Amino acid sequence: MKTADRMKNVQPSPTVALGNKVAEMKAAGEDIISFTVGEPDFDTPAHIREVAKKALDDGWTHYAPSSGLPQFREAIAKSEGKNGISCDASNIIVAPTKHTLYMTCTALLDPGDEVIIQDPAWVSYEPCATINGAKPVFIDSSKDELHFTPEAIAEAITPKTKMIIVNTPSNPTGIVMSEAELRGIADLAKDHDLIVLADEIYQKILYEGKHHSIASFDGMFERTVTINGLSKAYAMTGWRAGWLIAPPMLLKEISKVQQHSITCIPPFIQLAGIDALENSADDVRGMVTEFKARRDLMHGLLNELDSFTCSKPEGAFYLFPKFKSSFNSMKFAEALLTEAKVAMTPGSAFGLSVDDHVRISYAASREVIKDGVARIAEAEKKGLLG
Ligand SMILES: Cc1ncc(COP(=O)(O)O)c(C=O)c1O
Repeated sequence: MKTADRMKNVQPSPTVALGNKVAEMKAAGEDIISFTVGEPDFDTPAHIREVAKKALDDGWTHYAPSSGLPQFREAIAKSEGKNGISCDASNIIVAPTKHTLYMTCTALLDPGDEVIIQDPAWVSYEPCATINGAKPVFIDSSKDELHFTPEAIAEAITPKTKMIIVNTPSNPTGIVMSEAELRGIADLAKDHDLIVLADEIYQKILYEGKHHSIASFDGMFERTVTINGLSKAYAMTGWRAGWLIAPPMLLKEISKVQQHSITCIPPFIQLAGIDALENSADDVRGMVTEFKARRDLMHGLLNELDSFTCSKPEGAFYLFPKFKSSFNSMKFAEALLTEAKVAMTPGSAFGLSVDDHVRISYAASREVIKDGVARIAEAEKKGLLG
């Protein structure tokens, strides 16, 4: 027996592995504070849960149309219209956001195609390219203050380049891409006939500045797959509901992958999704206000320590500070876990250029944030962090 050769280069998700380790330690009775989790710590708003419960009782428990219920796709089109993406229900496929990424890569990439990815970037872009036989090409953005610049991308484009992945606000950095950066990337995509995959899942978790959807720029809708979802903005990670927006030529191919893989997502969840999109403005505002207060708190506390230099990103719920230590990011994270009982994700999980950073999720209460940083301060004082 033999497994697929192309899987040999694919590593298991480092963030999932770390989450599992923290869960095991907690289950064994250890008092761990975790800043690793990539999900809001709030409950899904009650009115959304009520809609799902009623939909279950009303019998919305069978297959839905593969692309999604028309009424959910219409609500998505309306919501995305506010980002300037002029689409309608026919441009949308509903699926877990991570699966929209996978489907897009499967449908649009051939073996040998090059996919330009920022270093650092969210952990799943590289495997999605590799699983589908494509070659990830990383742009070291450590020299550009972790910004993904058109100039650096232009240098990496070759005749084999097929796709550029952009993610704003970014996981892991929280950085929001400027309109000028996105317009520069759009020009490159048009000049070199490239597809852009725009991951906008943190779009609503924005504290300053403005979100720009690259698909809203002239000539970009026809070459962009925008992915988004309910997980982060509405505290709905477990519901597995997201979507992609694509022009007909790309969507036609992607929908085949949907039809032959997950078929559809549950219809009672899609009805709850409509409620999330249409009736949650206050809930989202409340969560974002709290995230902002936590960002400011965590940022201030970390910068009081000797070990961290931390900038203040405009979006998502992550800080991505540089640390001062003789350790690399994995050893530093291990020392934090062992000596301070605080879990953070090593920068190396997100790229080779950021082995002197850690990712901190501040989707945790203010008390937990204060307690966690106090523990780090203690370990730092004892000289235990390298
Ligand atoms: C940047 C980014 N894109 C996509 C996803 C996938 O979201 P979901 O869990 O809803 O599939 C995540 C989840 O962590 C993410 O951080």
